[in-house]
Order: sequence, then C-alpha cells, then structure tokens
Amino acid sequence: MVKTEYSTQEIHRLCTITPVIPVLVVDDVKHAAPLAAALVAGGLTVLEVTLRTAVALEVIKEMAQVDGCIVGAGTLITETNLKDALAAGAKFGVSPGATNNLIAASEATKLPFLPASATVSEAMGLAERGYVVQKFFPAEALGGPAALQAISEPLPHVSFCPTGGISIKNAKDYLSLSNTLCVGGSWVAPKALLKKQAWSQITSLASEAMALKPTKKC
Ligand code: 3PG
Repeated sequence: MVKTEYSTQEIHRLCTITPVIPVLVVDDVKHAAPLAAALVAGGLTVLEVTLRTAVALEVIKEMAQVDGCIVGAGTLITETNLKDALAAGAKFGVSPGATNNLIAASEATKLPFLPASATVSEAMGLAERGYVVQKFFPAEALGGPAALQAISEPLPHVSFCPTGGISIKNAKDYLSLSNTLCVGGSWVAPKALLKKQAWSQITSLASEAMALKPTKKC
C-alpha cells in the first residue's frame, strides 16, 4: 500500500474512534501522564499534543506510556517538527496547514499525517494527492458548520476533522454533518484546570465530550 493510502486509512480510523480529539497545550511535563489518564478515564483515547510548548516532545513521550491512549503530535509546521514527533513516539501527526515540504517529509516516514485545508482549492489539492481526510482550520473563523456543509456539496469524497473555536456548545452542529468524522478542541483540557491539576474535572469534560455522539465502529 502506498504511504498516502496507508496514512489516510489510519487517520480515518483515528478520527472515527471518538467524537472529539483533545488538542492539548501542556507546559509542565509532570501533567502529561495524569492528564492523559484523566482523558482516557472519560473515554477520549486519541490525543493531540501540540508542539507549542518547550516540553511538548517530552509530554508525548510520557503520554505514549499511558495505557489506552493513542498520542499524536499537532502543530507540525516543519520537517524537523515531524521528525521530532516521530522520534518522541507520536502515532500520528497533525498540521494547521499543508506545505509541499511537509507533505513530502511525512511521505518519507511512516507517520500517518492529517494536513489541514481552509479553502475549497486547498481541500481539492490535498484530495488530489490522496489526503481525503483533512483538518479544517480555523473552523469557526472560516464559517463553521455552514462552511463545511457548503463544501460537502461539491466535495462529498473529502472528510474533515474541524478544529478552532469548537466547544461543547457547538460541537454537535459539526458532528451532525455528513463530511465531519470528529472535531478537535482544547476545551476538554483548559489551561486553568491543568494548572489546578483538576484531573477529575477533566475526566468529566471528557465524558461530556464522549456523549456527543455514540462511538463509531472502525
Ligand atoms: C488547533 O490547533 O487545532 C486549535 O488551536 C484548537 O483550537 P481551540 O483551542 O479553539 O480548540
């Protein structure tokens, strides 16, 4: 199987395990294991750790040891980010966009890759290269569910994981769309709760997120 086909199948599988993929910004490595455990306890098992903090790669390493979760790396901008994520044990990679260099770098590895589009032309370009599962970012700023619904008409073969501005309040509007597999969001692990190490509250947020949609079989 060629890399893009394997990548897309695996990303599709990951995006249909739970309705929400937490987008995590963790700046204390001590929070990594209890945070992952708290999310898993609430049912959210597919986690994206953004490379936006100095300790993000350490956090991925720690979380990769936690039973029951699949940890990926987000905010991949450069080829170095991608290689670092792979070395840290990330099981998938997510980018807020997609460049030729980044796509080529991902294709030179086994890391399943979720690139992002923000326009119809970008979605078409990625689909032409085989990436028929895409992140849609920044979803709310781009027009939210109405924009994705409009895109589904000409591009029914492309599926999305929208992120950016999504919360428990509007997640259902996305999840009811035919072209939306899951949503991503940071609301399940807010900074304030991380700071307080309020793990049981994070588990409650994860359970609430899980209840948004019955888990799909994959
Ligand atoms: C992302 O990287 O996917 C977004 O920054 C997440 O956006 P949110 O913080 O609005 O959920």
